[in-house]
Amino acid sequence: MIRVLGIETSCDETAASVVALSEDGSGSILSNVVLSQIADHSAYGGVVPEIAARAHVEALDGLVEAALDEARVDLADVDAIAATAGPGLIGGLIVGLITAKALAAASGRRLIAVNHLEGHALTARLTHALDFPYLLLLVSGGHTQIVLVEGVGRYTRWATTIDDALGEAFDKTAKLIGLPFPGGPNVEKAARDGDPRRFAFPRPLKGEARPDFSFSGLKTAVRLAAEAIAPLTDRDVADICASFQAAVAEALADRVARALARFRDAFPDVGEPVLVVAGGVAANATIRAALQRLCDGHGFRFVAPPPSLCADNAAMIAWAGAERLHAGIADGDAMDMAPRSRWPLDAESAPVYGAGRRGAKA
Ligand code: KG4
Ligand code: ZN
Repeated sequence: MIRVLGIETSCDETAASVVALSEDGSGSILSNVVLSQIADHSAYGGVVPEIAARAHVEALDGLVEAALDEARVDLADVDAIAATAGPGLIGGLIVGLITAKALAAASGRRLIAVNHLEGHALTARLTHALDFPYLLLLVSGGHTQIVLVEGVGRYTRWATTIDDALGEAFDKTAKLIGLPFPGGPNVEKAARDGDPRRFAFPRPLKGEARPDFSFSGLKTAVRLAAEAIAPLTDRDVADICASFQAAVAEALADRVARALARFRDAFPDVGEPVLVVAGGVAANATIRAALQRLCDGHGFRFVAPPPSLCADNAAMIAWAGAERLHAGIADGDAMDMAPRSRWPLDAESAPVYGAGRRGAKA
C-alpha cells in the first residue's frame, strides 16, 4: 500500500489530503480538508492573486496537520508528499511547493511535483477504479479540453477552447448580470427558476468540423441581451442563466459527440468506452445531465466524480502522486523543480489557432 500526503494551493482553495493506493491499484481517501477563500475575494468580484497567496501561507500548516490527524498518520507513515507545482497562480504554487519541499526535507519523505490538470484527469480512477483508456472532458476556470487518457502521464489533447474557458464564461456571465462571486455556482442556482427557452443564445461552433470549443461569443450575446432589457428583474436574471446553461449544454454535447465518435474509431476493441467529466464546472447538474444523455445515446458509460472532488481539492493531487509512484514515473528531482504558472498536460499538441491565454490557469 502506498500512502501520499497531497497539497493543493494553485488558486483559491487551500487543501491537504491523505490518500492510499492498494496493491490492486484501488484507492481510498483517508482525509480531505479544503479551505475555500471565497470570503477573502468576494469583495473584489474575483480571485486576487496576492490575497490568495497570503491566505495559503496562513492556512496551509494547520490544514496539513488536520489532514494527517484525520487520517491518523504521521509524516513518517506516508510514502511521499505530493504538491501541485502548476499550472496556476504563481504565488500560491510557491507556497504549496515550498511547504512540501520543507516537509519532505525534514521528514526524509519523497517529494512529487504534480500537474494540477493530471489531478483532475486521474480523479475518476480514485472514485470509480477506471481502467485506461478513457476520454476526459476537463472543464474548469482555466481550461476546457477533451483529452484522451491512455495511462498515467499519457495524455493527448483532442480539443481545447479557442477563447474563454467554460468556467471563465460562467464567471463573466455572472458578473455581467450582477450575480456575486463565485459565478459558476451562482449562475446554476439562479437558473433553477428560469426559462431556458426565453433567450435564443448561440451554440458556439455547433456542427463545425473542427473539434474545439468557443465561449466568448456566447458571453457577448448574454451581455447584449442583458443590456437590451436592463434594469434586470430577478426573473430576467433567472431566465438569462437558464438560457445560458441550455446553450452551454447543447454546445458541449455537440463538441463532445465528435470526440466520442473519434474514440470509437480509435479504440474499436474497448467494450464499454467511458467519458469522464472533471474540473470545477463538472459540478453543474445541467451539464452533467446533458453529458449523461449524450453518453446514453452513444453507448458510452458516463463517469462524474462527486462535485466535491470535481472542484479543486488535495485528494486528487495526493492520488496523482500515488499513481505516479505506483507507475514508477515520479520525478527523481522534484526538490529542484520550480513551480510553473503554465504547464500543459499534453506538451506535444500544438497551440490552437485563435486560442487566447487568459484566466488564472489558462
Ligand atoms: O477546477 P476549479 O475548481 O479551478 C480551476 O482549476 O480552475 O474550477 C473553478 C471554476 C470556476 O470558474 C467556477 O465558477 C466553476 O468552476 N464552477 C462552476 C460550478 N462550480 C464551480 N461552474 C458552473 N456550475 C457550477 N456549479
Ligand atoms: Zn482545478
